Amino acid sequence: MSAVLEINNMAISFDRGTKPAVRDFSLSLEPGEIVGLVGESGSGKSLSALSLMGLAPAAARLDGGGILFKGQNLREMPAAERRRLCGRHLGMVFQEPLTALNPVLTIGEQLAEIYRLRAGQSRRQAQASAEAMLAKVGLPNPAQAAQSYPHRFSGGMRQRVVLAIALALSPEILIADEPTTALDPTIAAQILGLLSQLASENNSSVLFITHNLRLLKGLARRVLVMYTGLIVEEAPVPGIFDQPAHPYTKGLLTALPPPLSEPAPKRLTAISGAPPVLGHWPPGCPFEPRCREAFAPCRESLPPLTDLGCGQKVRCFLYGDRPC
Ligand SMILES: Nc1ncnc2c1ncn2[C@@H]1O[C@H](COP(=O)(O)OP(=O)(O)O)[C@@H](O)[C@H]1O
Ligand SMILES: [Mg+2]
Repeated sequence: MSAVLEINNMAISFDRGTKPAVRDFSLSLEPGEIVGLVGESGSGKSLSALSLMGLAPAAARLDGGGILFKGQNLREMPAAERRRLCGRHLGMVFQEPLTALNPVLTIGEQLAEIYRLRAGQSRRQAQASAEAMLAKVGLPNPAQAAQSYPHRFSGGMRQRVVLAIALALSPEILIADEPTTALDPTIAAQILGLLSQLASENNSSVLFITHNLRLLKGLARRVLVMYTGLIVEEAPVPGIFDQPAHPYTKGLLTALPPPLSEPAPKRLTAISGAPPVLGHWPPGCPFEPRCREAFAPCRESLPPLTDLGCGQKVRCFLYGDRPC
C-alpha cells in the first residue's frame, strides 16, 4: 500500500540554524494507520506536526527533503494551494480544546460553517450535517449542543466538539497533538476510543502525539519515539512494549504507571536527569548523559538509526544485527 503521507529527513532549527530543534525526521503514514509519536516535553513533537501542516513558527527554519501528501510535495506548493489542500485533507486536534473554539459563536455555527464554506452545503444542509456530526462524537443532545456556546461545555465535551470539527470533512490525515492530556483518565479513554472508531470508519490515518507511551498500547499500530528532536526508536505495537530496544524507550516505560487492568510493577523508576537544552546537544548520543547502559562510543558520535528488522529501528550503539 502506498503512503498517504511521507516526510523525508525533515530538519527544523532556530536562530539561523544554530539551534536544531528537530533533526532527520522521517515518517510515513499508510491509509487508515494510527501512528504514535511519543517523547518528553520539548522533544520536538509539536514543532514537527506544525511544520508538516505548514504552520511552523515564523522563526523556524525548515530544511531537509519533501513532505509528500499522496506523492505531491507540499513544500513546493504555493502557500494558498497548500492551505487549501491541508484544510481539506488534513485535520488537527490540539491539547487545549477551548483555544481551538471561537467563544462568540455557537458550537453549531462553528461546525456548520465548515460544511458551508468547505463542502459548499446550503445553510439548512450544513446545520443538519453539524448535528449529525455532534451525534457521531457522542454528544447526548446534538440539537441543543449545537445552540450552546463553548464555555458551557466541560473539557471532555469540548474535546469531542474539536474532534467533530477536525473530522467534519473526513480528512485523510488527522494529527492529534496531546488531545487528551488535559482530561481525566476516564474521559480520555472515551475520546481515544472515539478517535480510533472514527478513524477506522473514515479510513483516516492518524498521527497521535503524546508524552505517555502507554496510551498508545491499544491505539497505535506503530510508535515513533523522539528525544531531543531525533527519532531514537521506531517499532510496531505491541512489540515496543514487550521488547523496547532504546534505553530511553525502556525508561519511558518504567517511569509510567501501567493501567489499572495490568499488574502493578514492583516500583516505578523515573529517568534520572533532564534532556539537554536546545542548542546544547552533546556531540554523541543525546541520551548518553542520562543513560545507564552508555559506553565509550556513545560520547563520541551520534548513533545512526539501525534497522533491527521486523519494523523496528533504533538509534543506539548497543545494537548490531539482532534476530527477532
Ligand atoms: N517559536 C519558537 N522559538 C524558539 N524555540 C522554539 C519555538 N517553538 C518551539 N521551540 C523549541 O523547540 C523545541 C521543541 O518544542 P516542541 O515541538 O513544542 O516540543 P514538544 O511538543 O515535544 O513538547 C523546544 O526546545 C522548544 O523550546
Ligand atoms: Mg507539544
